[in-house]
Amino acid sequence: MRWAPWSLLATGIVGGANAAALTKVTENFGANPRNVGFYIYVPDKLAANPPILVNPHWCHGDAQACYAGSQYATMASKYGFIVIYPDSPNTADKCWDVSSNATLAHNAGGDSLGIVNMVRWTLNKYKGDPKRVFVTGVSSGAMMTSTLIGAYPDVFAAGSAFAGVPFGCFAGNGYGVWSDACATGKITHTPAEWAALVKAAYPGYSGWRPKMQIFHGTVDETLNYTNFGEEVKEWNAVLGYSQAPTVTTANTPVSNWTKYTYGNKDWFEAYSAGGVSHNIQNQEAVVMSWFDLTCTSGSCFSWGTGGA
Ligand SMILES: *[C@@H]1O[C@H](CO)[C@@H](O)[C@H](O)[C@H]1NC(C)=O
Ligand SMILES: *[C@@H]1O[C@H](CO)[C@@H](O)[C@H](O)[C@H]1NC(C)=O
Ligand SMILES: *[C@@H]1O[C@H](CO)[C@@H](O)[C@H](O)[C@H]1NC(C)=O
Repeated sequence: MRWAPWSLLATGIVGGANAAALTKVTENFGANPRNVGFYIYVPDKLAANPPILVNPHWCHGDAQACYAGSQYATMASKYGFIVIYPDSPNTADKCWDVSSNATLAHNAGGDSLGIVNMVRWTLNKYKGDPKRVFVTGVSSGAMMTSTLIGAYPDVFAAGSAFAGVPFGCFAGNGYGVWSDACATGKITHTPAEWAALVKAAYPGYSGWRPKMQIFHGTVDETLNYTNFGEEVKEWNAVLGYSQAPTVTTANTPVSNWTKYTYGNKDWFEAYSAGGVSHNIQNQEAVVMSWFDLTCTSGSCFSWGTGGA
């Protein structure tokens, strides 16, 4: 069942003063080898078995800036979901560790494991819905989105990445290593090679794969647009889709942006933002819809059978 104003009023989700605020979790929430900061937004009125949205920040950003820089906390108050804002331990540039062997492998360590343990703690504490855990981010936050979707397909149901790179493209010897080769679009692989990188992150996993949505500006000066095509190859191959879009839609959701839909189940979609630089506009409404986060009763996010 979709959102209906009367049902929200009846359950009291809408309206009233909201006292909720961004809060730092200081208790032990499981292994966090890199000491990633854990900030959480829990609205006053939670949905039953609330969904969880993870929103990693960009380089030179932090949890507070990410919280203040989008509509997600406001949306969380309106629809009763929880938002986790992890904070990078990398004080030099606040970029995420999307390079280490540990972060790129399931339950192996790195920043990704700290973030996943925040999710596990939150699912347990707030009786969250393990089949509705989502992740979205911009730039370094998009790279962490790809990292989490690739290494933890059992934890995340869907991802949405703005101006990022493919899973594994920044792979390097150490934590938080910047890859000039990837950033400038020099790293290209076949679809099968990209899929093998993702599958090697969690050998033996044969379960459900998360849905994926990507956005990239054609004149991105920080993470070259080549990465858009490489991400398209990667996620189509992971999902077992043909590389040819099933539907192409012009001027969606913004004039001069083109939406490409792939596969028979529409589990992967890619938006090419014509004439847009690295400073790409967030599209919260599209992301909310992709995660079905405006759904508050009945069978929400009924696409798949993911779950931690
Ligand atoms: C990471 O993995 C690569 C490839 O297997 C290996 O060459 C490298 O030594 C590893 N790095 C670390 C720090 O373990
Ligand atoms: C991206 O890389 C291509 C190929 O090297 C280059 O022609 C293009 O100028 C780069 N884009 C930007 C915005 O720097
Ligand atoms: C529209 O996108 C094309 C590339 O797809 C770009 O060359 C053109 O400059 C863009 N137009 C505007 C007004 O941004």
